[in-house]
Amino acid sequence: MKYVVTGCAGFVGSTLVDRLVADGHHVVGLDDFSTGREAFVRQACEAPGFELVRGDLRDPGLALDAALGADAIFHLAANADVRHGTEHPTRDLEQNTIVTVNVLEAARRNGVRDFLFSSTGSVYGEAPVVPTPEDAPMPVQTSLYGASKVAAEGFIQAYAEGFGIRALIFRFVSLLGERYTHGHVIDFVRQLREHPDRLHVLGNGRQRKSYLYVGDCIEAMLTALRAAPGKVGVYNLGAGEYCQVIDSVGWICETLRVTPTLTFSGGDRGWIGDNPFIFLDCARMRGLGWEPTMTIREAVVRTVGWLQEHDA
Ligand SMILES: NC(=O)c1ccc[n+]([C@@H]2O[C@H](COP(=O)([O-])OP(=O)(O)OC[C@H]3O[C@@H](n4cnc5c(N)ncnc54)[C@H](O)[C@@H]3O)[C@@H](O)[C@H]2O)c1
Repeated sequence: MKYVVTGCAGFVGSTLVDRLVADGHHVVGLDDFSTGREAFVRQACEAPGFELVRGDLRDPGLALDAALGADAIFHLAANADVRHGTEHPTRDLEQNTIVTVNVLEAARRNGVRDFLFSSTGSVYGEAPVVPTPEDAPMPVQTSLYGASKVAAEGFIQAYAEGFGIRALIFRFVSLLGERYTHGHVIDFVRQLREHPDRLHVLGNGRQRKSYLYVGDCIEAMLTALRAAPGKVGVYNLGAGEYCQVIDSVGWICETLRVTPTLTFSGGDRGWIGDNPFIFLDCARMRGLGWEPTMTIREAVVRTVGWLQEHDA
C-alpha cells in the first residue's frame, strides 16, 4: 500500500511511520519541522520504503503532489498545543482547519480511498456525560484548538458524504510514550531536573484525566483502517481508566527518585481550556477488537524513562 502521513516528524506521526515502514508499506511523510524533529525520522529515512517531503501544508500544492497514487492519508499534522492557544488566536484555524481542507482536497483530487484524522477529546469541551461517548452533545468549545478540530471534523465528514472518501476520525485523550515532546509529564520532569526539591502544579492537582500509550493509539488506527464499517467512523481513543494529576506526580517522582515540596496554582483547572475531567467511552473502538495494552501508570513511567534516556 502507499500511505501518506502528514506530521511525520512529530511524536505520533513518526511512530506511525516506523510501524507502516516495518509492515512493508510505501510511505510518503510530510512535515515542516515546526515542532517535528529530525531525530524522529532518521530511522525511517534509511528505509527504502520511506520518502520525506519537507514543506508547509498551508501550501495546497504540497499534499496534492504527495497524494498521487495513495491508498490512504493519515492526517496528523497540526498545532497540537492547547494551552497557549489564546496567545496565537489564528494559529489553530490555519494549522488545523485550513491545512485539513488542503489535505482533503489532495485526497479528493487524487481519488484517495481512506482519510484518517487525529482529532481530540478536547472537542467535547466540558462534557456533561462522563465517560463521554462519541455521540455526546458538545455544546460549548473551551479552546481554540478544540474549535479548530471540530471544524476540521465537519469538513472531513462533508467530503466523505460528497466525494465518497471513507473518513475515520479519532478523538484521542493525551498520549504518552517514546518521543513524547509536550504535556504535563515533560513539564514536570524538566522542573524536577532543574530543582529536584520543588514542583509547581497548575490547578489543584485533582484534575481527572485519561491518557493512552502512543503504541495503543497507532494499533487502534490500523485496526479501524482494516475493520471499520461505513463511510464515516468517529472513534474515541483512551485508556479504560483515569487518574488525578497528583497520581501522575507521584509516579513521576517515584521514577525519578525525588520527593519535592509541591505547590499548586489553585482552582479546578490549570489554564483556559484545561478540562478538569476527561474520560472517554471507547466501547465503539473496542467493538472492532482493539484493547489498550498499557495502564496509565505504566505509560507515565515509560515516558519518564524515555525522557531521561534522551535528556529531553
Ligand atoms: N499528543 C497528544 O497527546 C494528542 C492528543 C490528541 C490529539 N493529538 C493530535 O495528534 C496529532 C499529532 O500530535 P503530536 O503529539 O504528534 O504533535 P507534534 O507537534 O509532535 O506533531 C505534529 C507535526 O506536524 C507538523 N506540522 C505542524 N504544522 C504543519 C504544517 N503547516 N505543515 C507541515 N507540517 C506541520 C509538525 O512539525 C509536527 O512534526 C495532532 O493532530 C494532534 O492535534 C495529539
